[in-house]
Amino acid sequence: MTETDKKLLAEAKRVREFAYCPYSNFAVGAAVLGASGEIYGGCNVENASYSVTNCAERTAIYNAISSGEEDILALAVVAESAQPVPPCGACRQVIAEMRIPHILMANLAGDVKEMTLSELLPDAFSGEDILS
Ligand code: THU
Repeated sequence: MTETDKKLLAEAKRVREFAYCPYSNFAVGAAVLGASGEIYGGCNVENASYSVTNCAERTAIYNAISSGEEDILALAVVAESAQPVPPCGACRQVIAEMRIPHILMANLAGDVKEMTLSELLPDAFSGEDILS
């Protein structure tokens, strides 16, 4: 694991503490690396109307995009889970949209799993599939 990967995991763990998750009590933290070298964090933000909930991964990605990053090089996600926490289907679609090539999943016990984008979401639907 690279030093940058370690920094991403540390940031994901740090912002996990800010998770707003009164319904599930399942706190998740994520962090992404922008092409500028900057790291952006995000946590899950739940809602009484459950489906409005924003996962940590999407919060981190939208944070980076809103800060002007055009390319995201890597994403890390951390939770207190038995296995390294896998991103949900909706987040996988967003990770594919932003073409994030390197994904790190981890738990608080220190287990880490690395995946490429095509492993995370094979045969992804993309803008190229929209006929104009
Ligand atoms: N959650 C994330 O933030 N990321 C994941 O990878 C899995 C699920 C959140 C959504 C919800 O707030 C809580 O975890 C339980 O599903």
